[in-house]
Amino acid sequence: MQFTLDFNNTMSDVLGSEQGFRPEDIDGLKKQANEIHKNLQARRRTDIGFYNLPYDEKLLKDVLSLSKELAGSFDTLVVLGIGGSSLGGRAIFNALCHPYHNLLHSVGEGRLSPNASIGDVPSRCGRPQGSPLQARNKRSVLRIFFCDNIDPDGFKPLFEILNLKKTVFNVITKSGETAETIAQFMVIKKLLEKMIGKKYRDNIIITTDPLKGALRKIADEEGFKSLPVPPNVGGRYSVFSAVGLFPSALAGVDIKKLLAGARYMDEMCDTDDIWKNPAYMSAILQYLAYKKGKNISVIMPYSNALRDFAEWYLQLWAESLGKKVNLKGEAVNIGATPLKALGTTDQHSQLQLYMEGPYDKIITFIEVKKLKNKMPIPRIFEGFKEIGYLGGHSIEELFKAELDATRIALTKNRRMNYAIAIPEINPFTIGQLLFFFEVQTVFAGSLFEVNAFDQPGVEEGKRLTYGMMGKKGYENKKNEVAKWPKGAKRYII
Ligand code: PA5
Repeated sequence: MQFTLDFNNTMSDVLGSEQGFRPEDIDGLKKQANEIHKNLQARRRTDIGFYNLPYDEKLLKDVLSLSKELAGSFDTLVVLGIGGSSLGGRAIFNALCHPYHNLLHSVGEGRLSPNASIGDVPSRCGRPQGSPLQARNKRSVLRIFFCDNIDPDGFKPLFEILNLKKTVFNVITKSGETAETIAQFMVIKKLLEKMIGKKYRDNIIITTDPLKGALRKIADEEGFKSLPVPPNVGGRYSVFSAVGLFPSALAGVDIKKLLAGARYMDEMCDTDDIWKNPAYMSAILQYLAYKKGKNISVIMPYSNALRDFAEWYLQLWAESLGKKVNLKGEAVNIGATPLKALGTTDQHSQLQLYMEGPYDKIITFIEVKKLKNKMPIPRIFEGFKEIGYLGGHSIEELFKAELDATRIALTKNRRMNYAIAIPEINPFTIGQLLFFFEVQTVFAGSLFEVNAFDQPGVEEGKRLTYGMMGKKGYENKKNEVAKWPKGAKRYII
């Protein structure tokens, strides 16, 4: 079984000519695709660094050796980072670790067994050989918490369940200056100093630019252990750097296999033949859909393990492609709005809108062919014809049937959709999937003719925040906020 992209349900043969694409629509982009391919291949050697991460032996060695070094001393990892500095690691964790990973440890316990090896701990992550109970007994990996939001009502209560001596904090910020992450860092630094004393530095690992930024300076001057984020790798493309790999390694994920999956996908995408390149084809479908007025792009995995993966994709897509100006500097205000839905849950929530609302969506399903768990449904309630039919089937059968049924129902309603399928969830296929969406996004960026690597739109909000928080040089922003109208009373109820 292979990674597949089935886009039948986007084509006019199936959806009709009003809603679907003709093969000629796709072929019309061949020349452009060829040029984009050449450009991306050249730029992977210069400014688009994410392509090379899965091949970086030194990075892998450094991540594995630091994880091994820490594994014996801590039972919990807290990741402090936001946006691209959190979502990738979280997506891997959600996909590859036990769904109740953190509950497999009891609070205050979880010290790794002295013999445990982080490089080869597939007991819980990478989807287990052996039961959760065996995994818990091995205690071979750390509990992981991702604290991306600074809402104190979410952040502070975490400290009620941590044993600080056994907790390592991974402060991740490429710029080394993101207010949210640095504020969290300042809080925990003081706290650790107070609780642990001189050796508190052992409990902090910094992941940041190797040369630039305030945090790099602090790490070097104060002697914190650190890992680099390569300068040519932007936050949302950093999942295969130490940003995503280090927390994953500490969670017990087989990161070698994850990287192998990414390399495999890189090979699959190393062709300018759009009918053979799944990531380019997927980007083309998204692009053509947008041109056809379908300006909402829904991602709908049928897998709980891919819930956070969908979050990661949302950020990648939205921040990369939602832009005011194109590469020529012309105002375009472009970008499809990404939405996430989870099958089957959102069949009972958003599906009504997708079925009958405006024809403004393209839906990408992600199907996992082979699920890990089997759950037969017992033959009971046979006297009740409303529910008794379920007996003798299985939960996975029902899950699959619902996916197929949803695809058919949408297609019957001429709602554009396509499906990506992976044979099962494991580190290799997750590596494939992550890399696939990175390539899709940069390729789509070129089709839309926007810079997929910047995010100028978020800067003004940051500047106003700096002003309010008293950062030097932003006094005018402070005044701007102070003078901002409070709003007419008649519009406030
Ligand atoms: O993709 C991006 O560049 C952003 O989402 C960043 O990851 C996010 O703003 C956090 O930035 P930093 O890693 O510098 O703290």
